[in-house]
Amino acid sequence: MQAPTERAPVCIVGAGYVGIVTAACLASLHRPVRVVESDETRRGLIERGRATVFEPGLSELVAEVTRDGRLRVAGGMADGVPGASVVVIAVGTPPTAEGDADLSQVRKAVAEAVEHADPGTVIAIKSTIPPGTTAALARQMTRRDVSIVMCPEFLREGNALHDFHHPARLVVGGDDPEACRRVASLFAELGGETIICDSTSAELIKYGSNAFLATKISFINEMARLCELTGANVDVVARGMGQDPRVGSAFLQAGLGWGGSCFPKDVRALEAVFGYHGHSFWLLKAAIESNAQQRRHFVARIREALGGNVEGKHIAVLGLAFKPGTDDMRQAPSVDIIRQLHDMGANVVATDPVAQDTARPLLTTTRFVPDPYEAVRDADVAVVVTEWPEFVNLDWARAVALMRGRVVVDGRNCLDGARLASLGVRYLSVGRRPVSPPD
Ligand code: UGA
Repeated sequence: MQAPTERAPVCIVGAGYVGIVTAACLASLHRPVRVVESDETRRGLIERGRATVFEPGLSELVAEVTRDGRLRVAGGMADGVPGASVVVIAVGTPPTAEGDADLSQVRKAVAEAVEHADPGTVIAIKSTIPPGTTAALARQMTRRDVSIVMCPEFLREGNALHDFHHPARLVVGGDDPEACRRVASLFAELGGETIICDSTSAELIKYGSNAFLATKISFINEMARLCELTGANVDVVARGMGQDPRVGSAFLQAGLGWGGSCFPKDVRALEAVFGYHGHSFWLLKAAIESNAQQRRHFVARIREALGGNVEGKHIAVLGLAFKPGTDDMRQAPSVDIIRQLHDMGANVVATDPVAQDTARPLLTTTRFVPDPYEAVRDADVAVVVTEWPEFVNLDWARAVALMRGRVVVDGRNCLDGARLASLGVRYLSVGRRPVSPPD
């Protein structure tokens, strides 16, 4: 393999979430970056210095790095790939109807990259792909002077720029150690432990991390239900458990379970991989069921708070995105919760600081309002589904005064129950005792 020039360009294929964040952040580290994107709208956005996805801080960064020419949109693979030392594949791997990952975009991108690559180029896959995929792609490769490695990404939506600059670890897997080292060197100045391994292990590190974290959340949510039954407080239980470094305090926030574009997809894909090998990943099956159950349980709690019947009731839903800091509605708990409430005859009015437009096509019978005070006006109950700071810091005295009912159900344990009770509100949350107004 030829040695690349020190700051040779990096080509990023795909300007979705992973691609545009990686492209802008690498460019900010003074790497010339070219982005290849098939979608004309996305290309146009980057050309105008704008981000293709909503992510705090990203628009400013894309504007900066496109302005000074460090990031540019390539006309296509034939323009973007030649001359690049590393070609990062960051295209989607959406779930198929069977739950496994659809690899068609990855296969196409790799084939085209191989076709246009200079001798010595390394192709680094950042898309999440099932174990064995990189090795299979390497076997099928028609050229021996191009290497392929797996470099999973661990960015969280809403915190992606921070996560990029403060990685806990960097994983690069492949057969060619020199190719692995070259990809690792792109991110070396960011710190974090570097793990160079075989590509299948790298693929499984990614799936294993997401599946473990999802299971951890489901575990604390099951504990929350037990707390409700026994009168304990899940926040205290989680704090006490998390102090043990073997348990760790992260991802022990009880709530409405995991959603988004990653955990649900990756958990199912990992389960599907197990199935192909003739086995069942029982723990993951349970986590998936527990996660669905958590949403049903929350709806039951809302119904209970309204005296056992939600029909004709005005329910204000605060928060639609699967978590704060994003407009991503994929597998958002809000969708299941609102649909179940609709099915039981409730009138739902929903609000979200940024996700209303992405939510609209998924929730066609829901009324959306931009202002949370408008959402709670005349509401029988206000329900917090996403812990946006806008809702945590709402003027709750004003909100309560606008409501018809005096019940708030907090699916994220993010509000001050004692304060709400002092405003005359009955406050229900997850895994904690209800708080009633003083007599
Ligand atoms: C997740 C991983 O955290 C990233 O490391 C990974 O790179 C990414 O998937 C991916 O595979 O691309 P993300 O989907 O952005 O990131 O969201 P998280 O912050 O991990 O949250 C996932 C879900 O779990 C959210 O619905 C969140 O509300 C929920 N959650 C999280 C809890 O209910 N409790 C917690 O304690 C933590």
